[in-house]
Amino acid sequence: MQGILFDVDGILTDTAKFHFAAWSRLAQEKLQVELPVEFESNLKGVSRVDSLVRIMEYAGITDQYSLGQITALANEKNAYYVQAISQLTKADILPGIVAFLQELKEHDIPCAVASASKNAPLILKNLGLNSYFAVIADPAQVKHGKPAPDLFLAAAQKLQVPIQECVGIEDAVAGVAAIKAAGAVAVAVGDKIELQAADRVVSTTADLNYTSVNEAFRQSSS
Ligand code: G6P
Ligand code: MG
Repeated sequence: MQGILFDVDGILTDTAKFHFAAWSRLAQEKLQVELPVEFESNLKGVSRVDSLVRIMEYAGITDQYSLGQITALANEKNAYYVQAISQLTKADILPGIVAFLQELKEHDIPCAVASASKNAPLILKNLGLNSYFAVIADPAQVKHGKPAPDLFLAAAQKLQVPIQECVGIEDAVAGVAAIKAAGAVAVAVGDKIELQAADRVVSTTADLNYTSVNEAFRQSSS
């Protein structure tokens, strides 16, 4: 194991509630649609525009909006979301994450950010976690979002570590699919059934540590 590729939303901090609140407000005010609670997890790992398209499909209004209108609506949602995440601090880092990052540093394992979020740099800054990450893969520079492998491949390349030597850490089904498609080992945080495509599933971020992630790597790549 020579590198770790981290998802951000749901791994470093819990932003799903902020995404959902921002989408719900936009859907209510601009699309006259009430989003069911399932949408909170439906949109995990899904890019901003793809999330809006999913919401429009749910509302049955996909063909009523031009690309320009879709972009404007997505920007509007982002403004609500950025306002919410500007309040994030160190206190919002999920359990066990700092200890895990510290352990990786001690073992000289470089870490990359492989998030679909264009707000990942702002989130890292607000959480005070920048110094733990050698590189951030830019989601604007890759052709296909998760579940396609592009972001994880870009992150490994930027880290200059072969993808087969990397472990990806994810909480979303689309993210686990992306890690596996890239050819890395997948460690997922969340529900064992939902995330069964991963090589190892732990229930919470508090269960992430060097020994168990390295063991998952050795078992899966042997
Ligand atoms: C992450 C989240 C998604 C979000 C996506 C894009 O993958 O899990 O819910 O839609 O990032 O985020 P952004 O901040 O660029 O709108
Ligand atoms: Mg996530």
